[in-house]
Amino acid sequence: MNFSKELAQWYQQNKRDLPWRHTTDPYIIWLSEIILQQTRVEQGLPYFNRFLENYPNVTAFANASEDEILKLWQGLGYYSRGRNMLKTARLIRAEFGGQFPSAYQDLIKLKGVGDYTASAISSFSANEAHAVVDGNVYRVLARYFGISKPINSTQGQKLFKQLANEVLDTAEPGLHNQAMMEFGAMLCKPKNPACGICPVRLGCEAFKTNATTQLPVKLKTVKIRERFFNYFLVYENGKVLMNKRTENDIWHGLYDLPLVESDRLLPVHEIVTLPQVEHYFGKNLPIEEAFGLQKHILTHQKLTIRFIRVKEKPVLLNENWFYTDIENLKKLALPKIVFIFLTNFFKFENNSLFSN
Ligand code: ADE
Repeated sequence: MNFSKELAQWYQQNKRDLPWRHTTDPYIIWLSEIILQQTRVEQGLPYFNRFLENYPNVTAFANASEDEILKLWQGLGYYSRGRNMLKTARLIRAEFGGQFPSAYQDLIKLKGVGDYTASAISSFSANEAHAVVDGNVYRVLARYFGISKPINSTQGQKLFKQLANEVLDTAEPGLHNQAMMEFGAMLCKPKNPACGICPVRLGCEAFKTNATTQLPVKLKTVKIRERFFNYFLVYENGKVLMNKRTENDIWHGLYDLPLVESDRLLPVHEIVTLPQVEHYFGKNLPIEEAFGLQKHILTHQKLTIRFIRVKEKPVLLNENWFYTDIENLKKLALPKIVFIFLTNFFKFENNSLFSN
């Protein structure tokens, strides 16, 4: 048996029973694939179920507001994915009459849909012969064929895509793609791959040369940006001052607290003398409580966050600031770290990210 047939057989005997594997509806597959680009299967499942319950078809999704989508997306991170999904759903409502496309050529034109997603949806829903190449597939191919070209170089990406299409079982592309990904996720894992029970180990270059830990090769390119967020909690008579994030920055469209960013870590007595703080709050802002520093790691950023409860209201309100009842907080889409802070501060009973 060849490599692809072996993997397909392994998949049929070992696959996980996942809800999106019981459908050929391109909308449902799209939902699952975008969520799974953001997180692991176990964490993604409850999000997938909630989205599908709330929006059983693409028209229902398109009719949602951005606030509603971001609230359901809360906790997944990379919120532009959620916002792009809404744009895509609205485009499909307007231009495809609410029929989610399943052809690669239509899918690839959609916002937030690249080669991976278009290949996944078209192969799973319409059995079109497009090989998927995600992190799992890179790893499986790099190891089995012993390829040390970096997977994030232009040449490497071309090479792996070509190879993925060469090994694609064109009679069963959907099954083949699922098998490659599942095999990478469950057996040919990044750390401690289960080579002992691997059905293709005798043909695997990395296994033969004891190189599984060296493959795949990835170039380190991204610089991590360090940022320092100083958040102000203004809370009085059951109302809290919130900010809607409208800049082209992380958490666009979400709600947080009035924020003054500094270029380095500052003690609280220096934070209150920052020009922006004095502009909004006046001089000598009295502090009620400064909470401990928190670190928050994002893909390309490392945030150091300080929450400070102040004793006085701002003298001037930024155009994106507004007072809201604390009960209303649960309805707003908040960055996870802000949500956790407010949940603890106000001692909301239900510590779930989804209490509505
Ligand atoms: N990761 C990405 N797509 C997946 C899928 N369809 N099933 C399981 N894991 C995945």
